[in-house]
Amino acid sequence: MCGIVAYVGPRQAHEIIIKGLKRLEYRGYDSAGIALLNGSLNVYKKKGKVTELEDSLKGQNLNSHIGMGHTRWATHGEPNNVNAHPHYSATRKIAIIHNGIIENYSALKQDLLKKGHRFLSDTDTEVFIHFIEDIKEKEGCSLDEAVRLALTKVVGAYAIVVMSLEDPDLLIAARKGSPLVVGVGKGEFFMASDATPIIEYTNEVVYLNDQEIAIVNDGKLTVKNVANLPLTPYIQTIDLELEAIERGGYEHFMLKEIFEQPRSIKDCMRGRLDASSGRLILGGLREYLNKLIQADRILIVACGTSWHAGLVAEYFFEEVCRIPVEVEYASEFRYRNPVIREGDVVIAISQSGETADTLAAIELAKSKGAIIFGVCNVVGSSIPRATHAGAYTHAGPEIGVASTKAFTAQLTVLYMIALTVAQKKGTITEQKYHELLVEMENLPTKVEKALTLNAQIQTIADEFKDARNFLYLGRGYNFPVALEGALKLKEISYIHAEGYPAAEMKHGPIALIDEQMPVVFIATKDASYEKVVSNIQEVKARKGRVISVVTEGDQLIPKMSEFVIEVPATLDPLMPLISVIPLQLLSYHIAVMRGCNVDQPRNLAKSVTVE
Ligand code: G6P
Repeated sequence: MCGIVAYVGPRQAHEIIIKGLKRLEYRGYDSAGIALLNGSLNVYKKKGKVTELEDSLKGQNLNSHIGMGHTRWATHGEPNNVNAHPHYSATRKIAIIHNGIIENYSALKQDLLKKGHRFLSDTDTEVFIHFIEDIKEKEGCSLDEAVRLALTKVVGAYAIVVMSLEDPDLLIAARKGSPLVVGVGKGEFFMASDATPIIEYTNEVVYLNDQEIAIVNDGKLTVKNVANLPLTPYIQTIDLELEAIERGGYEHFMLKEIFEQPRSIKDCMRGRLDASSGRLILGGLREYLNKLIQADRILIVACGTSWHAGLVAEYFFEEVCRIPVEVEYASEFRYRNPVIREGDVVIAISQSGETADTLAAIELAKSKGAIIFGVCNVVGSSIPRATHAGAYTHAGPEIGVASTKAFTAQLTVLYMIALTVAQKKGTITEQKYHELLVEMENLPTKVEKALTLNAQIQTIADEFKDARNFLYLGRGYNFPVALEGALKLKEISYIHAEGYPAAEMKHGPIALIDEQMPVVFIATKDASYEKVVSNIQEVKARKGRVISVVTEGDQLIPKMSEFVIEVPATLDPLMPLISVIPLQLLSYHIAVMRGCNVDQPRNLAKSVTVE
């Protein structure tokens, strides 16, 4: 978490940095700060959003051609002006911005305190910059060498940028475990947590790898690693449109992203799936496809919404590939000494490609010899680089913190992977394979149709916006959708919500049901339809308020429900891509009506780079 951005070149640094920080705010937004060099090294910081920092800068002399900024998601020390970044060194001649955690900061701090250092903040980052300066003074070395030496001593994760009063053309950046991109312009350089603050100015970038240090000095970029080995920077041209990272007339990014789903699902299948010829090609899998086909077991690791996509995929892989699947929270998997056998294959799912727990789970599985596939959205992020093979979701940048289009794109990719394997393994009939391909091609149109329910869902949201609790129930493929619907509501509207398999309700949640309790049933016509009908009866008998998502034309459930949302019919396994749409819209409208910050809900961040 935390977003960092830095600039050196002929333009006004603060303009680029503030704009960049706004683009990176999805990474954290409890405080923000900026450092500029104009005669002295000036740091300006403010608790709250980037706009509050921007307002506080009005009237200041911000003229500077070098600078760096930070938007924070607090780890060490509460969000306030003092703990915000940048942080100064002891002499205030050097400053740092940092995304990540220095795990051994406490030991470093004790040593520095003994040497007379005094700290203003509670952060690990301030300790880090004091430590760098201490090394510089002790060794009498250059700043970049001091940074390098410090990095050999710190434990933890970092993406940092360091600047100095004494070197007005110098920016030093380094990464381990947290992302960092260097933008290479004409006579100017950019550094940022992702490419969004950069693409307006240049599409030439260098993605730093772990343990690499980038030094921009006097208009020249050099890269080396922490072991002091010089490296040739690999400059890539990225293909990211500015339009894709702007709101495009929508009130919130989340709404824009919900409405983008017909297109993002189509983009995800483009050039890969062609039902008329039966062609399904995922180029990124080719080299390791046999490992998947021969897998004895598939382990899926992920967090949050991506974990829900994994749960849906579990049902599908088992149904069509006949391979046992286990879906694991990456954070649990990595710490419980899991059994990984030869023949196991791991699939890691992540929108950002940066989630620390997922990355660590991958490293663990790799160390035990597993082959790892990645399903990620952000091109060039850490997870796709750590996996053996994989497929991008191509959903375009997802900026709203609550994940929407990434979920449906993840399902699309996972289904394409499963169908590829099933066909090659012969565990699916040609007829079923074709039916599924045809129906996948129909998904964008059906999702489009589901989106026309928006106004109706707004009315339902109005009815339930003051509810204190919600229950979401579904069975089979719609069970993970229930979990996802509940998560969406919790995340952005702060209403307590639980997702449950509908039949499990009897073993606990049924006790919660009274005339106040809204219960959302995802009750489309599938294999468990009749069973869900009984579950609805059970809720009704206890006077719960039933909201049902049903298949168009359903005659029975509407009679039993206070509110009905009709979605287009599809094959059972594909229903989650459609049935999740009204749930995304419901949570969105409830959150807006409650006056919540939909795109930046409290305490959350989009990219969770701390464990
Ligand atoms: C955070 C985000 C969620 C996301 C989860 C996993 O909690 O707020 O929307 O689902 O991280 O992130 P990933 O990028 O790995 O999918």
